Amino acid sequence: MCGVPIWGSFDLSEPSEIRVEGLTVERGGKRVIHDISFSVTAGKVTTLLGANGAGKSSTVMAMAGVLPRGGTVRLGDIALEGYMPDGVRRAGLALVPEGHRVLGQLSVEDNILVAALDPSAIGRAQGLKRAYEIFPELAERRSQSASDLSGGQKQMVAMAQAFVAKPRFMIVDELSLGLAPAVVKRLAEALKIAAASGIGVLLIEQFANLALDLADQALVLERGRLVFVGTAAALKARPDILHGAYLAS
Ligand SMILES: Nc1ncnc2c1ncn2[C@@H]1O[C@H](COP(=O)(O)OP(=O)(O)OP(=O)(O)O)[C@@H](O)[C@H]1O
Ligand SMILES: [Mg+2]
Repeated sequence: MCGVPIWGSFDLSEPSEIRVEGLTVERGGKRVIHDISFSVTAGKVTTLLGANGAGKSSTVMAMAGVLPRGGTVRLGDIALEGYMPDGVRRAGLALVPEGHRVLGQLSVEDNILVAALDPSAIGRAQGLKRAYEIFPELAERRSQSASDLSGGQKQMVAMAQAFVAKPRFMIVDELSLGLAPAVVKRLAEALKIAAASGIGVLLIEQFANLALDLADQALVLERGRLVFVGTAAALKARPDILHGAYLAS
């Protein structure tokens, strides 16, 4: 597979970044994200690292409208205040949640189609084409029941559900959790291609080396606060921060 953009470029008028300002999140009556600010750039991979319980999923669920939040999230000029998850997706931000869940009773193709935003025949066909271009192995299994897929194939379906909507930005919560190294390589390749085609990717990944090899930018969360914002290369040179991020919780 090559790294050439496969979906044509995005329009210059499309938003070039997501800007998160002063984000706070409470869960179970307790503040778990404390006033964090960062941005995610179109065409680049940004990785969000941190120990178990640091607040990675809470951050991205709040961005995607799944959890209530304080602060602002702007997608280019659009302030996503009060947007429900479906509205956030329509605005151009797709979340691949933790756990690669699929609708087991549906076929692979129907799983992808339920996530299509354009219900017209042309829209559905284009969406499927995008999904199958990036994951040809799903095209081969289009009629198969999703419950029969391997964990890696289920993660491909979950990612295809994001690609089908031609998102400008995409968040993947735990790319490799529980998956075999060979399939993780495939998934990482797909994210590289997505970024090369102009999508801004925010990646949560337990293996810091894998994440930092893929990413341009890096964020490190510790107990709901950002302790590093910078380039992936700069973070690689800071084992103290990486060590803290993975042992502290
Ligand atoms: N449903 C919930 N109700 C109350 N508190 C929660 C809930 N889910 C998570 N939390 C708390 O919110 C904080 C952040 O959790 P979160 O799941 O966002 O972290 P994470 O970085 O994604 O962790 P992991 O690496 O385990 O996925 C933790 O203190 C956690 O205990
Ligand atoms: Mg999580």
